[in-house]
Amino acid sequence: MAGDYSQVTMGTEFWAAIFGRSAPVEVEIGPGTGTFLLSEAAARGETNFYAIEASRSRAERLTALIEKRDLRNVRVVHAPAQCVVRLIPDASVTAYHVYFPDPWWKRRHHKRRLFTPGFTRELARTLVPGGRVYVATDVLFVWDQIQEYLEGSGLPLSTLPVPPRATPTAFERKGLRRGVPIWEGTFVRPSAASAATQAPMESWHTVAADRT
Ligand SMILES: C[S@@+](CC[C@H](N)C(=O)[O-])C[C@H]1O[C@@H](n2cnc3c(N)ncnc32)[C@H](O)[C@@H]1O
Repeated sequence: MAGDYSQVTMGTEFWAAIFGRSAPVEVEIGPGTGTFLLSEAAARGETNFYAIEASRSRAERLTALIEKRDLRNVRVVHAPAQCVVRLIPDASVTAYHVYFPDPWWKRRHHKRRLFTPGFTRELARTLVPGGRVYVATDVLFVWDQIQEYLEGSGLPLSTLPVPPRATPTAFERKGLRRGVPIWEGTFVRPSAASAATQAPMESWHTVAADRT
């Protein structure tokens, strides 16, 4: 008898080819040393984690750790995220995690900045309805840009409290030690049901410096 393919989308097939199974997919962009990625992947074996890391040495170190810990629900790709997200099928990612993206202070490096209107449109396109973008930064102008571009792409900032990360990232730990403010938020692709009842948005909040 023929199978029921009514629920099989291009996204389902794309991710199943990468992970060898069908499960919700979360993408971390710029995992660095992988503190968040490794602890989340170990704690949530039912979720597939796809990490996009532009630094070759970091991507290689992460891959070695993932193999050592036998985390079968993680894949790492070494590439700029701007290139990879364009390849991801529509409405196939349940969450993006972007923690402490490089600010690229120098004018000649501005073109390397991750968040642009084109990039956030790709995040919106690839998220499932109700899908989320979790972001954190210790640089206020980066936060302002992130908020402007994500909201401009149809991903409003949620008024729900940001769930604490079980393990702070390496950059987060440094920031907390120095006592600098951290801006973080969750941006949500509205589902058809929620679009009509979207609550007013909170502009930003600062995480207490003693949260460790
Ligand atoms: C400031 S570090 C933060 C690392 C980690 N998220 C943390 O919080 O500890 C930024 C990371 O993003 C990576 N990165 C920078 N630009 C990127 C891009 N376009 N695509 C993917 N990763 C990128 C860097 O190599 C680095 O690992």
